[in-house]
Amino acid sequence: MAEKTDGFAKGLSIGIIMDGNGRWAKKRGLPRTAGHKKGAEVFRDIIRYCNELEVASVTFYAFSTENWSRPLEEVNGIMKLFGEYLVMAYDYQKENNRVVFLGDRTALSQRHQDMMNDIEEKTRNNTGTILNVAVNYGGRQEIVRAAQRCAQRVAAGEIRPEDIDVAMMSDNMYTAGQKDPDFILRPSGEHRLSNFMLWQASYAEFVEMDVLWPDFTRADLDAAILEFNTRSRRFGGL
Ligand code: IPE
Ligand code: IPE
Ligand code: MG
Repeated sequence: MAEKTDGFAKGLSIGIIMDGNGRWAKKRGLPRTAGHKKGAEVFRDIIRYCNELEVASVTFYAFSTENWSRPLEEVNGIMKLFGEYLVMAYDYQKENNRVVFLGDRTALSQRHQDMMNDIEEKTRNNTGTILNVAVNYGGRQEIVRAAQRCAQRVAAGEIRPEDIDVAMMSDNMYTAGQKDPDFILRPSGEHRLSNFMLWQASYAEFVEMDVLWPDFTRADLDAAILEFNTRSRRFGGL
């Protein structure tokens, strides 16, 4: 059985599908946006904890390309929380995080886009935990975008079609230059990826937990990491 020892999470790359906000609110007779608000608080605390654990990178799934299909009031509530988060995200400058936003940001407000670009620029050379925030993110859309970017280079005569390989595709993902996730964690008891990191998850372990995201604690992250540490990864070998 894996144990929580010093450095038990150091260097790991973790993906987190923050799910269950709506159910958390419903159980309490609250509007769904109250669940998102509590979920955002947990998100901020788990980021700090990942810094303490010295994980290499953590990716939070905040809003999917499919989440636009929710009622406008809920979408607006989530975007408002995201805006509040962006104001705080400037603090990561001093916490040494490199912040990267994954997804198609052109669908977001100009003000949010400007802040996202600015935060990425200001934290670009930080050497601590990489903090990826996936907003208007879809794994399939990301793969299509990478294919288009490679195809454009072929059309420009820079490369031949056969030059396109796994490494080049990886370099054209939003996560270019980063290590693939070691494990993907999904709270809320669901057993699916919901279009999250489809390319990068190729050999990720999947850890599902029966806790709703707004109830998620540092101890739950410990438990997920310990569970991951019991897995035997073979990458197709023996
Ligand atoms: C995750 O919680 C947050 C987003 C998808 C933005 P949900 O809102 O999906 O919560 P449930 O799954 O309905 O409980
Ligand atoms: C995945 O959760 C997206 C995020 C957590 C941002 P969903 O709640 O949207 O996924 P489904 O609809 O249950 O697959
Ligand atoms: Mg959900």
